[in-house]
Amino acid sequence: MEREIVIYPADVLKTRAEEVKEFNEEIKKLVEDMFDTMYKRGGVGLAANQVGVLKRVVVIDLHSRTEKEGKEQIVLINPEIVTQEGEVVKEEGCLSLPGLYRKVKRAAYVKVKAQNLEGEEFEIEGEGLLARALQHEIDHLNGIVFIDRLSPLQKRLALEKYRKLKRKYEKELVQNR
Ligand code: NI
Repeated sequence: MEREIVIYPADVLKTRAEEVKEFNEEIKKLVEDMFDTMYKRGGVGLAANQVGVLKRVVVIDLHSRTEKEGKEQIVLINPEIVTQEGEVVKEEGCLSLPGLYRKVKRAAYVKVKAQNLEGEEFEIEGEGLLARALQHEIDHLNGIVFIDRLSPLQKRLALEKYRKLKRKYEKELVQNR
């Protein structure tokens, strides 16, 4: 079931999400809904904060925009970066800041420790788009959005642009209702 995406600057996007302790049906349903929502919007990753739930849950599918959709679903519960290396600057966007894209500096490689839907621990490592998605989504769980990673000046300029985009986005939402 698709859920509504929370749009910046909502408080829930600036708040640290709580650790998941019970791996129950509620979490399974949340993950299912997060995938539905992400595919519907053409994103490659989504954090629970973005559907208004303050739990440490992330979903990623790098094939979200291709015909392979649903083939490589990654579910990360209570994820934590354990190793990171290198540096890459690349353009990034976020479903919670519709229409805004900025170049963001991220580690080129990360290793992440997380739990699956059964509560079992596993590790995942990646570079390229996967490394970027992992860092972007784990940031969300810590109440950080990608423009928080910019210099103060760049962030201010991005916010100015975003305010205009947001007005346009909200107008379109009303028209489509
Ligand atoms: Ni995002």
